[in-house]
Formats: sequence, C-alpha cells, structure tokens
Amino acid sequence: MNPDLQALLDNNRRWAAATEAREPGFFTRLAQQQSPRYMWIGCADSRVPANEITGLDPGEVFVHRNVANVVVHSDLNALSTIQFAVEHLKVKHIMVVGHYGCAGVRAALNGIRIGLADNWLRHVQDVRLRHRKRIDHLPAAEQEDILCEVNVIEQVGNVALSTVLQDAWARGQPVAVHGWVYGLKDGLLKNLQVTMDHPDKVVGVFAAALKRYPRPPAAAHDAATDAADTGFGPASL
Ligand code: CO
Repeated sequence: MNPDLQALLDNNRRWAAATEAREPGFFTRLAQQQSPRYMWIGCADSRVPANEITGLDPGEVFVHRNVANVVVHSDLNALSTIQFAVEHLKVKHIMVVGHYGCAGVRAALNGIRIGLADNWLRHVQDVRLRHRKRIDHLPAAEQEDILCEVNVIEQVGNVALSTVLQDAWARGQPVAVHGWVYGLKDGLLKNLQVTMDHPDKVVGVFAAALKRYPRPPAAAHDAATDAADTGFGPASL
C-alpha cells in the first residue's frame, strides 16, 4: 500500500472509532436513513469543505460541488442532485456557496485558458459580461471578489428558476435558496442576502441584490442596460 494512502485509511479507522465512542450507534442510525435539512452547492476547491465550515456531521448536509459553483439549467448532474434533495430528502435550505480567491472565477475574469474547463467557465464569463458595468469600473483587486459574489447571486437565481424549485413552491413545499461566499483568508461565511423562498420573490430579490453593486453614474439610469444586466427585462425593474 502506498504510504500516503495508508495514512488516510489509518485516519479513517481512528475517526470511525472516535465517532462511535463519542456517539454510540451513530453509524447504525445513519446507515438506515439520511435526513439532512440542508443542501450545499459549492466549489470543488479543496479548501472549502461544507461539513467542516458549518460544523455539521455526516448526514446533516447534502452536497453538490463543481468548478466555480455553477448551476446550469441543462446540467443533469446538478439538477438531479437538487431534485433528490428537494423531493426525496425534503431539505429546507439550499445554499449556493462561492468563495473568494476562486481560481475558476479568476480564470473567467482574466480570460486565462485552462483547457476543457474553459467551456464550463464560459458560464462565469457570461455572468461577468452581463454585469460588466457593475464590475469593470472597479479597481482590479476588487473585480475578482465582486465577480465571486455576483456569480453566486446568478446561481441562486438559476436554482430558484429551475423546474425543481418552481414545482416545489407550486406544491407549497417550504424550501429556501440562499447565497453565501466563503473567505479563504479568515474562514468566515458571508451572507449575500439573496434568499429566495417564493416564486414571486425571485425577480425582486435578484434585482435588490444587484443594486448593491452600483454602476458608475453615467450608466446608472439606462433602462436598456438594466434589462441586459438582469436578463429579466425592463418591466421587472
Ligand atoms: Co473555486
């Protein structure tokens, strides 16, 4: 056995024993059923582990992760995971969690070619393009952080507009979608105040969240820009 891998297996045996000693029956109970209240949609980055950051045990958070925490309307992987979480596990909260210092967001912002992932990160480039008037005027150092935040807001909207959430809300099922960003430098989560828990709230919450990232004055009252920025059209704003 490769010693690196043997260390992991040794760690695992110690962890399982310590967990069972701390909470007898823990694994027997979990093996029968999971009933998490939370779903986490985050970046694949190894520095952003959902359970550790939120102090949750196995069985308490259902997790989907990909590069740059993107939810694409045609991504059957993400949609299937969200559907299982909402319809079978009946999670109460879905958190889309970005993180500052995201290499995927940085590549999208700066047009850095990575390889196959360029096509995936095109979705983040689309976010940047749609909100360029809120981002491009900022100092370079701030642009990346703001794109991380705006990307989360966009993905919260994508989750809320998915058939899974729309159908759940139509049934009267209580489930809310939230947007958070994690700081690699301080270990803290920031709530972006973009919680959507009803179909009628989606556009208003989305627009209010984006208004926190002002455009320069010259572009501030351009209705056409508003429409292009949000994708919801001028009548929505
Ligand atoms: Co990342």
